[in-house]
Amino acid sequence: MKRVVVTGSGGQIGSELVPHLRRLYGAERVLATDLRPASGPLAEGGPFACLDVRDGEAFSALVRHFRADTVLHLAGLLSARGEKDVALAWDVNVNGSATALEVARQEGTAFFFPSSIAAFGPSTPKKETPQETLQRPTTIYGVGKVALELLCDYYHLKFGVDTRGLRFPGLISHETQPGGGTTDYAVHIYYEAVRKGNYTSFIAPGTFMDMMYMADALDAVVGLMEADPARLVHRNAFNISAMSVDPEAIASAIGKVIPGFTIAYDVDPLRQAIAESWPDSLDCSAARKEWDFAPRYDLETMTREMLDRIASKGGRAA
Ligand code: NAD
Ligand code: SER
Repeated sequence: MKRVVVTGSGGQIGSELVPHLRRLYGAERVLATDLRPASGPLAEGGPFACLDVRDGEAFSALVRHFRADTVLHLAGLLSARGEKDVALAWDVNVNGSATALEVARQEGTAFFFPSSIAAFGPSTPKKETPQETLQRPTTIYGVGKVALELLCDYYHLKFGVDTRGLRFPGLISHETQPGGGTTDYAVHIYYEAVRKGNYTSFIAPGTFMDMMYMADALDAVVGLMEADPARLVHRNAFNISAMSVDPEAIASAIGKVIPGFTIAYDVDPLRQAIAESWPDSLDCSAARKEWDFAPRYDLETMTREMLDRIASKGGRAA
């Protein structure tokens, strides 16, 4: 990657990925874009442009004028939000992503697509879910992720586009709040722990999902995009995860730092049903073998850092 365009950069991932890339590659070489105008580090730390990813002409022009060699396509609607507006989720997640991929083909750039644990469904093996297995998701978000995984592989095979993707687990971070997903509880719990010393979870105890700290997710994006293509047997998309946890496990890790922390439950049927349709834990051996994936944070180290950082901001989201 030498000159990078990032879509959906104002979200939970982009707001940290863009500054990370600007530190690595130089501020002027990373163009941040989003539907809405940005403020703060995103707009002030380097170039920024408004872009609706469904507008192929505007998208192509931006990529061409910036002389980008890579498009990191983050724009999208998360799982729970998608179930509440299926037509919009399809339009942005599928039509918008297909447009982004076509722009990459026309402009000759590499293309990164963030898939998800949501690309699996209830008929997928739940534990140590293999890299290649049944994918029959039951959310519109997951259906879109499978469609784009396949389309990205197709564009690589048919047109030679350098497409690469990750099946992200739930991402835990302290800069930008998550945008309406099922794993959001695993971020909210840390804020409430700092603010109030207790948390009411919308996901039930015993519901295991894969998670990862944002620092490891940023390293994974760069690691995959910089990987030697000769080593890549797979492309779209690699299973990655750093931990498989349920709400009790996170609460117990928080309790070691904030004694007396308590968790209660008020389960949301929509998000609980989504969580139950996803794997408990992923097999990440292909990512380890093909591009040396190696997350640095486990539940304990992530928990200490999350609580420290949120406390240093007085419990406020940025
Ligand atoms: P987010 O909801 O925090 O941010 C998404 C961004 O996309 C927002 O800034 C929004 O303004 C922008 N956007 C929406 N519609 C757009 C459009 N039409 N044109 C341009 N921008 C538009 O999402 P995120 O958590 O940063 O996730 C980014 C990507 O990673 C998504 O594809 C998501 O599915 C995927 N992912 C995220 C997680 C996670 O835990 N955060 C896990 C798995 C996969
Ligand atoms: N964190 C995302 C969600 O819950 C997973 O893709 O929607």
